[in-house]
Amino acid sequence: MTRRRVLTGITTSGTPHLGNYVGAIRPAVLASREAEVDAYLFLADYHALIKCHDPAVVAQSSLEIAATWLASGLDAEQAHFYRQSDIPEVTELSWILTCNAAKGLMNRAHAYKAAVQSNREAEEDPDFGVTMGLFSYPVLMAADILIFNAHDVPVGRDQIQHVEMARDIAQRFNHNFSNIFTLPKAVVGEHVAVLQGLDGRKMSKSYGNTIPLFGTPKQLQKSINKIKTNLLEPGEPKIPEESTVFQIWSAFASDDERARMYADFEGGIGWGDAKKQLFELVNGELAEARERYNELMAKPMQVEEVLQAGAQRLRPKSKALLEQVRDAVGLRAYV
Ligand code: TRP
Repeated sequence: MTRRRVLTGITTSGTPHLGNYVGAIRPAVLASREAEVDAYLFLADYHALIKCHDPAVVAQSSLEIAATWLASGLDAEQAHFYRQSDIPEVTELSWILTCNAAKGLMNRAHAYKAAVQSNREAEEDPDFGVTMGLFSYPVLMAADILIFNAHDVPVGRDQIQHVEMARDIAQRFNHNFSNIFTLPKAVVGEHVAVLQGLDGRKMSKSYGNTIPLFGTPKQLQKSINKIKTNLLEPGEPKIPEESTVFQIWSAFASDDERARMYADFEGGIGWGDAKKQLFELVNGELAEARERYNELMAKPMQVEEVLQAGAQRLRPKSKALLEQVRDAVGLRAYV
């Protein structure tokens, strides 16, 4: 039986935060260990170039994010772990797909539409600041997915449209040329927690309300102390469902610990005490990974080697697929 190929990309921009850990990293690491899954996890560094034009930041983010995943328990022997830019077949495929993808389809992509919309509001030219990279982003993403014929693509809700576009592009290619591509499906985790940030809204870089994942324990403590609470005093009952402290607690606690804290909230635990316990809990889960992370950041060569090995193991597959695609579109040796 062939295992299901489950593929997802992580854009290498920004420093990972607790919300990324709970919502993406932790579940993906667990899923990659399931015996019936053939997991593909890659650093979408070509995608990072769309948003970031500072070479030092591009390079540093890529390393940080690679080290984060390895430190968080990703087993690079079992899962395929690689950099998008180490698989040149991705960009070759991307061009061939570009020549077959409808421009009208791309006009409907959320990221592009949002850019146009905000230009209109600012009374700018609709395409002001829009690069071809941003416009063609879904084609590159389709190439990522189709190059390894992934079955399932776990993504956040904001990315469902892109996976559907990849499916569209694959279907059109199969119909026009040759039945080469598996039609991919977006998988959105129903039970994946969306963590709240310091101000109670969804934790997100764009709201500036994040708790960095691998800061020092002191920084973690400081961030936790900044979580917004109400003015209730110790001894006054508190409503767990309305509290970010309790919400983050729940994302790290066992069922028993969760029930115990729930009771403590109703019993009037003070905010200072609850936050102290939250720090202990989160720090306890992250301490070992943080240490591994710091080691990897100090020895980037180790990370480099893992990624090189990952690409080397995969390239026979990407080359074979590209060979078929080139032949299908008529790029062939003459004799
Ligand atoms: N665009 C995705 C994001 O920003 C990252 C990504 C790039 C991706 N290529 C992919 C996700 C392929 C899934 C499959 O989150």
